[in-house]
Amino acid sequence: MSVRVSASLVPAGALPSSTAAVVIDVLRATTTLSVALANGAARVLPATSPEAAAERRRRRPRALLCGERGGLKLPGFDLGNSPFEYDAAAVRGRDLIFASTNGSLALIAARSARRRVLAAFVNASAVLETLAGDDDVTFVCAGALGRPCLEDLGCAGWLAAGLARRGARLDAAARALAALAPRDAAAVRTLVQGASHARDLRALGPAYAADVEFCARLDTLSAAFEV
Ligand code: MLT
Repeated sequence: MSVRVSASLVPAGALPSSTAAVVIDVLRATTTLSVALANGAARVLPATSPEAAAERRRRRPRALLCGERGGLKLPGFDLGNSPFEYDAAAVRGRDLIFASTNGSLALIAARSARRRVLAAFVNASAVLETLAGDDDVTFVCAGALGRPCLEDLGCAGWLAAGLARRGARLDAAARALAALAPRDAAAVRTLVQGASHARDLRALGPAYAADVEFCARLDTLSAAFEV
């Protein structure tokens, strides 16, 4: 297996169709969407903007309209971007039209890949398992407004280190991130809590601080999901 990392958004369609894209937006999109799919959501339909999401919902009235801007749930939307909102009662059997600032763009950017796997710390070991049969893997870190961010790079590094232990060949960026990656659950928590996006979310209030704490846990979900 060969593994490469894109530290921030790739242009849409830039990934080869031979690669498995592992899309990472630890705070909070890929954590939240993994929870949603674990709780029985039918499908994730990423949208480029809240307006595009609302337009798409007009054609699929049963779908839930989901996402955020500035971390906040949008007016008229059913759900925001907190993992706690996506329980089974809310999402089971429902399609999610999802527009977040960075995460949904990363999913759209990766659509030329052979498959798109959602990755976060909460299901990191399950992501390693699901990649076992892939020959070519690209980590797509959502980052923040086109810039790399600590928690996504840390998660890519954790995953790259795990794949290297299973014999994968890492590119130079993946090797560097693997060398710097958190080694255990305590180090993961410290890294995520220390990220600038975590500080921004905590400043929005206690419910957001709880989201950060949730996203900072390692392996609380035992499954990985494709979108
Ligand atoms: C994003 O897609 O930029 C995020 O998941 C932001 C957030 O709501 O924390």
